[in-house]
Amino acid sequence: MTSPTTSPTTTLAVANQKGGVAKTTSVASLGAALAELGHSVLLVDLDPQACLTFSLGIDPEDVEMSIHHVLTKGIDPAEAIIATDDSVDLLPATIELARAESDLLTRTGREHVIKSALESLEEDLGDEAYDWVLLDCPPSLGVLTVAALTAARGVLIPLQCETLSHRGVGQLLDTVHDVRRFTNRKLEVWGVLPTLYDGRTNHARAVLENISKTYELDVIEPPIPKSIRFAEAPAAGQSILRTSRSNKGAQAYREVAQTLLAR
Ligand SMILES: Nc1ncnc2c1ncn2[C@@H]1O[C@H](COP(=O)(O)OP(=O)(O)OP(=O)(O)O)[C@@H](O)[C@H]1O
Ligand SMILES: [Mg+2]
Repeated sequence: MTSPTTSPTTTLAVANQKGGVAKTTSVASLGAALAELGHSVLLVDLDPQACLTFSLGIDPEDVEMSIHHVLTKGIDPAEAIIATDDSVDLLPATIELARAESDLLTRTGREHVIKSALESLEEDLGDEAYDWVLLDCPPSLGVLTVAALTAARGVLIPLQCETLSHRGVGQLLDTVHDVRRFTNRKLEVWGVLPTLYDGRTNHARAVLENISKTYELDVIEPPIPKSIRFAEAPAAGQSILRTSRSNKGAQAYREVAQTLLAR
């Protein structure tokens, strides 16, 4: 097995158990931005709702092999990976993944299922291994999120800057601490990514400042502005970087990708 220090792949989990904070949008957009910069990218849909899969133009109903088979049946990840129109590859999800969560609960080593699948993929691909693997976590702190954090080098926390959005951040960080203690000593918190950001309001800025101070978290720049274009992209089966190239939100994700690369 390749040791994480020599791994050519950077695996990043995008997690927040709060729903609708733009986890999936961030994974799709950052994936497209990294691909634009010439990196090879694999996106992994870890949500039984399969929103990432849908938003990349793939109907989960048509998917034969998915992440569910990889995690519970030991299928080779390469057999389930699909190339998409956004120049990124996808390990898709289907609703069957909902069952994986309960199937895994009774399995020894369940925290490591994603890690070992990605390690065997990396080994099989050799020199062709992905530069980036982005994990789109479901809105919960269940088995799949813990397994994603176990597989990741870093975690990025999208956060909508509104009152009460800090509720849950503490809980997520507790989970990160547990993962560090038990399954992935090297997990790094890369920071919070402000999403659906309305910089015109002092309120959003105040909430953001408060959260980063309270939890001693880095804030990833720039914040992703609110834009109606984000709602349209998934229907087109492509990320906003393709559907609305010069949109401010698309541009912000490109800059965030540069920030991530600088690490
Ligand atoms: N910057 C933005 N401006 C406007 N709308 C956005 C923005 N980012 C995401 N959205 C919209 O917000 C909704 C939630 O986004 P998304 O599905 O990415 O969140 P999520 O955290 O993955 O949700 P879930 O927790 O359900 O998985 C979607 O309809 C998406 O199109
Ligand atoms: Mg999502």
